[in-house]
Amino acid sequence: MEKKRRLIIDCDTGSDDAVALMTAVLSDQFDILAITTTHGNLPVKYTTENTLRVLELLGRQDIPVYPGCNEGMVKLLTPGRMINPKIKAISKVIDGKEVAIHDRYLDLPEAVTKPQTEHACSFLLRTLRETKEKITLVPLGPVTNIGMALRMDPSIAQNIEGIVVMGGGVHEANKSMAAESNFFNDPEAAKIVLECGAPVVVIPLDATKSVSLSREDAAFMAASGTKAAKFAADLVLHRIEAEELLGFSDNGKNALHDPLTVCFLLDPTVITDLWHCACDIDLGGGRADGQLLCDMRPGEKPTLPTYVAMRGDKDKYLKMLAEVLARGN
Ligand code: RIB
Ligand code: CA
Repeated sequence: MEKKRRLIIDCDTGSDDAVALMTAVLSDQFDILAITTTHGNLPVKYTTENTLRVLELLGRQDIPVYPGCNEGMVKLLTPGRMINPKIKAISKVIDGKEVAIHDRYLDLPEAVTKPQTEHACSFLLRTLRETKEKITLVPLGPVTNIGMALRMDPSIAQNIEGIVVMGGGVHEANKSMAAESNFFNDPEAAKIVLECGAPVVVIPLDATKSVSLSREDAAFMAASGTKAAKFAADLVLHRIEAEELLGFSDNGKNALHDPLTVCFLLDPTVITDLWHCACDIDLGGGRADGQLLCDMRPGEKPTLPTYVAMRGDKDKYLKMLAEVLARGN
């Protein structure tokens, strides 16, 4: 039997993170060593609790969860850095009710399992230093924890098989007029990760928006009737409705970003347009702060193994999600 790929998932759970976690766990194709949690969609207190809730839904309390950093490496220390008139809120009070893309708590029973006491950064540093076999990292939120571990010991990159990260946008943005939320929230960490030397596949908004899901797609996803499938479909419907109420609906479709990383690891052909190109992050502190920059000029030769996904196969993506989420009870 082929050896399972060893994964550490770093997430800010988070509605789309929850679907990514369920897909990774239920696929049974990975040896998930741990999940580390980060800030982003919500403070770490909530992203940790939500991660534990998802694992309990799947009966996988054996996967350890390490809480990580609650803010970016240095961004908030730079005066004015977050003051950008075009920053978009992902929640708002409408008619006295909070409408959010990511509710503080996922609609699942309160977790009984406790998170680990070791910090995510120290866990990553220790594990990546000591491992005998390489590990794949799947960051689904701001990459602060991984950036910190790489900053403390850049040599751990040699034990990283690859990094498949959801972040950035080449022709797309969602947090500011130039930047995507995960990279916007910790641009320094994103640059460290992109330049660490291990193979990095960036799954930006361009790819995730090309596989956006509709209400009909959510019904298709739920059809198996398993707990995971129904919960994932409810999250898609919630995201569609929240975007409509918040006023940034994309024709009634929602880009379910994070699971595309996991689906890419399960079957790389779900990505139909992958570029090997040099990547950078704007750290200027102005309107473009946190923007992903990809050098796609003809003839430019990238020196690092950085790849950017520009498009996905929507039908394949939906079928993969529905099939994997149909597992379990
Ligand atoms: O911009 C989309 C990303 O930001 C997703 O990972 C979402 O969960 C949030 O973290
Ligand atoms: Ca996320």
